[in-house]
Amino acid sequence: MRITIFLFSIPIKIPIFVLKFLIEMNKTILITGGAGFIGSHVVRLFVNKYPEYQIVNVDKLTYAGNLENLKDVENAPNYKFEKVDIVDFEAVKSLFAKYSPDGVIHLAAESHVDRSITNPLEFIYTNFVGTANLLTAARDFWKGDYENKRFYHISTDEVYGSLGNEGFFQETTPYSPRSPYSASKASSDHLVRAYHHTFGMNVVLSNCSNNYGPNQFPEKLIPLSINNIRNNKPIPIYGKGLNVRDWLFVIDHARAIDCIFHNGKNGETYNIGGNNEWTNISLIKKLCEVMDKKLGREKGTSEKSITYVTDRAGHDLRYAIDSTKLQTELGWKPSLQFEEGIEKTVDWYLANQEWLDRIVSGDYAKYYEQMYKNR
Ligand code: NAD
Ligand code: DAU
Repeated sequence: MRITIFLFSIPIKIPIFVLKFLIEMNKTILITGGAGFIGSHVVRLFVNKYPEYQIVNVDKLTYAGNLENLKDVENAPNYKFEKVDIVDFEAVKSLFAKYSPDGVIHLAAESHVDRSITNPLEFIYTNFVGTANLLTAARDFWKGDYENKRFYHISTDEVYGSLGNEGFFQETTPYSPRSPYSASKASSDHLVRAYHHTFGMNVVLSNCSNNYGPNQFPEKLIPLSINNIRNNKPIPIYGKGLNVRDWLFVIDHARAIDCIFHNGKNGETYNIGGNNEWTNISLIKKLCEVMDKKLGREKGTSEKSITYVTDRAGHDLRYAIDSTKLQTELGWKPSLQFEEGIEKTVDWYLANQEWLDRIVSGDYAKYYEQMYKNR
């Protein structure tokens, strides 16, 4: 089929697929939370893979946001940064007016469970109100014309609650969040679906398992342990270390986000996971083994620093994702095995010790002191 367009008042018939291609080009995409751990990998992937897109990184730069993560793309012609707090509705509306975005990939969030126990309100503001602001600004700006527009909400497997020793989270698993963090993420997921059903907004969602890899803030288990091992400090393991997480290399999450943003079906949710379950204690023992090798230490040296500490309040026992839908319908699969991923991760942190040192010497030093002093 062809349609007619007018170029300098001259009618030209062009095939529909050519028109679609032209629309695809010059897409502007807002990526929120792009200075954080996962967001920075998503920004890098999109800036490099889609030079025809305009990528706008929208981030408040909280303690977890670090523009140093994006040094390699900060001067790319298709990349821009906007320092915006998504809790500020006027600022979010201005962003839409300034950039007329075709898509939003929403990663900005307060993301650390322990912090949500200490300070839940921050999580409600950013994760719930912030998402509501973005959705409302998108609805008002797109004015019901959702053709070629898309709102992609990045969520977590924690919304499904905690598993026993058997079973997996599926997209149909009922929500049962149990921490202020997961409850704030679950609420935001519900809002996204409500805007789809009520206003017809084109949305996709994904719920991913635990990520690991370069640039993760060292408050999370793996980078915190790498940092402590290299400094010969105790490695704090909550409770008995028998809680289970399903670990995915962050670049594989970014690849899944690319795939879902472009090919996911309107209104659908996709689970993303590594099919890679570890108890915390076996994971840390593996990490110690890799670190001993890399640091030239005798086997078994770092393990001696493992210290069992008071458990996390309401600590979920086990998360495990069934990502069959994403694999069979959209053809995504993880690109590497955990053994390779953890080696790459350790190599990155050891090659970027200044990055770690800069982070742990700032406000985070005070946080660490506070969080672990009574454990
Ligand atoms: P992160 O904490 O490393 O980064 C969050 C980013 O959001 C930071 O750059 C921060 O500055 C920004 N931000 C926070 N509040 C903001 C606000 N009010 N306005 C604008 N920007 C703000 O988080 P992450 O681990 O990269 O997680 C990113 C997303 O992925 C989150 O939505 C999280 O729930 C989800 N997720 C994370 C994991 C994981 O294992 N880390 C797994 C599944 C899903
Ligand atoms: O499952 C996805 C979620 O994974 C994401 O939505 C969250 O944003 C992300 O932070 C992560 O949550 P977890 O709570 O699972 O990650 P964390 O690295 O904090 O902890 C991993 C496990 O290790 C968990 O069982 C708690 C435990 N732990 C954590 C820390 C920081 C310890 O035993 N000691 C520690 O010092």
